[in-house]
Amino acid sequence: MSKPKVYVSRIVPEEGLASLLEFAEVSIWQKKESMPRDLQFKLFEHCDGLLSTLNIAVNAELLNACPSIQVVSNYGVGYDNIDVAACTALGIAVGNTPGVLSETTADHAFALILATARRIAELAEWVKNNNWTPEMGYLDKLGTDVHHTTLGILGMGRIGAEVARRAVGFNMRILYHNRTRNLKLESDFGAEHVSKNDLLKQSDFVSINLPQTQETLHYIGAEELKLMKSSAILINTSRGPIVDQRALLEALESGQIAGAGLDVTDPEPMRGDNPLLALSQVTILPHVGSATWQTRTKMAEVAARNLVNGLSGKPMVSCVNPEALGKGRYAKMRA
Ligand code: 8YV
Repeated sequence: MSKPKVYVSRIVPEEGLASLLEFAEVSIWQKKESMPRDLQFKLFEHCDGLLSTLNIAVNAELLNACPSIQVVSNYGVGYDNIDVAACTALGIAVGNTPGVLSETTADHAFALILATARRIAELAEWVKNNNWTPEMGYLDKLGTDVHHTTLGILGMGRIGAEVARRAVGFNMRILYHNRTRNLKLESDFGAEHVSKNDLLKQSDFVSINLPQTQETLHYIGAEELKLMKSSAILINTSRGPIVDQRALLEALESGQIAGAGLDVTDPEPMRGDNPLLALSQVTILPHVGSATWQTRTKMAEVAARNLVNGLSGKPMVSCVNPEALGKGRYAKMRA
């Protein structure tokens, strides 16, 4: 029997793909630049599975043009690039990679908290530019403390929980807002479940750890920023569109909030002339929350395993729409 055909839409750590390379006939897009849309239609046309990356919009139009695709395995925990409803309607299983990147992303959220509060990027640049002289006084370049402050976590999923775990070590008071309460976390980390508004009003640092959905689009906008303390710092390691970036710029320029640490922007990539980049109280990074060799390899392992299992009718490591398994293409291919 011939092997299933799978396309990998971007280069990912190849050692993570071992199970997939053995199981399927795998093509990998080798270029640095994103695969042009028209080529996506051509190259995926005869594929049974797709290992998709965030730059590929997996929607009905693409899927209808690729009638053999039964499993789409996204390289990431977030899958806002995928129209899951369209996949479910067609009987296409969608996989993602939760868990393996939670600690790495939480480390990164903390890196941004510390970098923004203690002006790390700004001051490293300042030293590089030969500004450090004996005249530097004790009131110059002061930052703000992280320890013993209040951290508000919006979205208490796996990543939010790891951010909370780290905050305990910094003796922070932890507030969180989530659709459902997590009593274990409350007792483990002393986290307090509060309303969104109370969290915004009381926190010194607000960390966004939400998925991007229709409900979370501009979840932090002008109204929310007005509620925050003028000394507060906003941290976003989830998805750019969750923050209304224009409102954020205004809030930073007017001193309504003190700073921001963003790993994600709207749009991505952010261009170098974006006015946010001119603000010294803002630290912006190029969406690298999961970007360690170890974690990106583990993500490849999970994404590969999702395809191998999904295409052989076995339970996937993580399937976001299990209801798709009993219908449409997925059911037909296995009938
Ligand atoms: C990206 C992420 O997937 O997991 C997510 O949701 O945002 C990241 O891990 C990664 O940068 C590859 O696109």
